[in-house]
Amino acid sequence: MTSASGVSSPAVRTHQWRGVIEEYRELLDIPADTPAVTLREGGTPLVHSEWLSELTGGQVHLKVEGDNPTGSFKDRGMTAAISVAKHQGAQAVVCASTGNTSASMAAYAAKARLNPIVLVPEGKIAAGKMAQAILHGAQVIMVKGNFDDCLRLAKELAAAYPVALVNSVNPVRLQGQKTAAFEIVDFLGDATDYHLLPVGNAGNISAYWLGYQQYADLGRITRKPVMRGFQAAGASPLVTGEPFPDPETRATAIRIGNPASWTLAEKAAAESGGRFASVTDERILAAQLELARHDGVFVEPASAAGVAGLLQELEQGESYTGSSIVITVTGHGLKDTATALEGFAEAGGTVVDDVVVPEVAAVAEAAGL
Ligand code: F0G
Repeated sequence: MTSASGVSSPAVRTHQWRGVIEEYRELLDIPADTPAVTLREGGTPLVHSEWLSELTGGQVHLKVEGDNPTGSFKDRGMTAAISVAKHQGAQAVVCASTGNTSASMAAYAAKARLNPIVLVPEGKIAAGKMAQAILHGAQVIMVKGNFDDCLRLAKELAAAYPVALVNSVNPVRLQGQKTAAFEIVDFLGDATDYHLLPVGNAGNISAYWLGYQQYADLGRITRKPVMRGFQAAGASPLVTGEPFPDPETRATAIRIGNPASWTLAEKAAAESGGRFASVTDERILAAQLELARHDGVFVEPASAAGVAGLLQELEQGESYTGSSIVITVTGHGLKDTATALEGFAEAGGTVVDDVVVPEVAAVAEAAGL
């Protein structure tokens, strides 16, 4: 077919993913007439990991959430939260963040023409995330404190001033985020035996559990997965049972001492027969590197906590033989290249820094050919 402009168009158009609200609207508890503010988030790949499947003797898939528009799973909840905030007449939105929520909120606020205000812990935000929030037009306010201080302030600000809170204490966020569970089931045909993921503020594990429960109620799955959440050792309140007043980890995305969705997350672990465990920063960075090497999937440090957890459990004698396992890798490696390269160097890697004259022999010599 040729149009008046002379540009030919295909006779059959392929379906373009519409974003999580339009793909799953009837399953989301948001006002029915809410127009979607979307960057066509979701629809992320479920990638089979040959490496981890061989190690476990099971079938391991990675839910690669770094493939979302702003590079993390946060976009799923943010399309919902910003759509509802816009529909309800908000002019400004606020969030506390370790980086990804702020990047996502700023992008969706730009799209919705809302004023984004971001509260972040001073000096603890990866450069890529900070750049995203700034470029999308957020007012970035650094707080001399940690994420937990930022969240308290964001709540207080929203209670006293005309600004809508879009952290995951806003239940609309979890409505969007639960779509990741739907996608996994829609792709695989059923739920897996185990679902492993990193845990910080604990919204994501709570949202996945909501999604699995909903699909179970609808008869779309024959079983619900065992949920296993992994926290950084220096910020692992769900493991110790006590808030951490001074959480510390190089996986800055999950540097959280008092998770907002604590109760929901504990419920998810208990009802699924799952649990929480902690992994050291060394294990997290090692898992990040191995994942990049073996599977071609580059994730940020926090995002590797689920893989680090699986490797740790195998070392401890836990068996996953014959099981199906999904691991959510939550955010893209390009968000924080500084920590990735530090981890690489600490593991004994050398960054290739040969500079050669422009001759093939010199290139071949440098390449060791
Ligand atoms: N992975 C990444 C890359 C994250 O950014 C976060 C949370 C998590 C895992 C943990 O998810 O909080 O739902 O348990 N980041 C938040 C933020 C806190 O502000 O971007 P959770």
